[in-house]
Amino acid sequence: MRAKKVLVVCLGNICRSPTAQAVLRHKAQLHSLNIEIDSAGTSASHRGERPDSRSIKAGSARGYNFSDIYSRPVFEQDFADFDLILAMDNDNLAELNRRCPAEHSHKIKLFLAFHPEFPAISEVPDPYYSGSKGFELVLDLIEHACDKLIIAPELTGA
Ligand code: 4NP
Repeated sequence: MRAKKVLVVCLGNICRSPTAQAVLRHKAQLHSLNIEIDSAGTSASHRGERPDSRSIKAGSARGYNFSDIYSRPVFEQDFADFDLILAMDNDNLAELNRRCPAEHSHKIKLFLAFHPEFPAISEVPDPYYSGSKGFELVLDLIEHACDKLIIAPELTGA
C-alpha cells in the first residue's frame, strides 16, 4: 500500500502547521508509520520563510526538528495529491472547503477532530500575537491530537 499523504494547514504556515508537521512526522517515525507529511498556509504572505522563531524554540525544546520546513501556500493540486487535509481552525477549514473541488472535499477535516476532547476543543488558536504560553498551548494541543492521529484508521488503513 502506498504511503498516505497528509497536509496540515494554517493561515501563515509559520507557526501552527509547521509545528504539526514536525510533531506528526516525529511520532509517525517512532511508530514506524509510513506516511508523508507536508504543511501549507491558506495565505501566501509568508511564502519562503522559515517557521516563526518562537515555534522553533518551543518545539525544539520538546525534541522536534524544523530544519527543512519553509512556508508555502496551499496549491490547487494539493486537493488531488493529498489523502487527508487538516485545518488548524474553522477559518482555515472554511477557506479550504471554499477552494476544494467537490470530488476531494471528503479529505478536509479539522486537525483537532483527532484530539481526545473534540468537539469541546476544536481549534488550535493562532499564537502569532500571543506570548510564549500561546506557543506551548499549540504544542500541547497538537501533541495530543497526533497521539490519536497516528493510530487512526485514516492513516493506518486498519
Ligand atoms: P500560523 O500563524 O497561521 O499558525 O502560521 C500566523 C502567522 C502569521 C500571521 C497570522 C497567523 N500574520 O498575521 O502574519
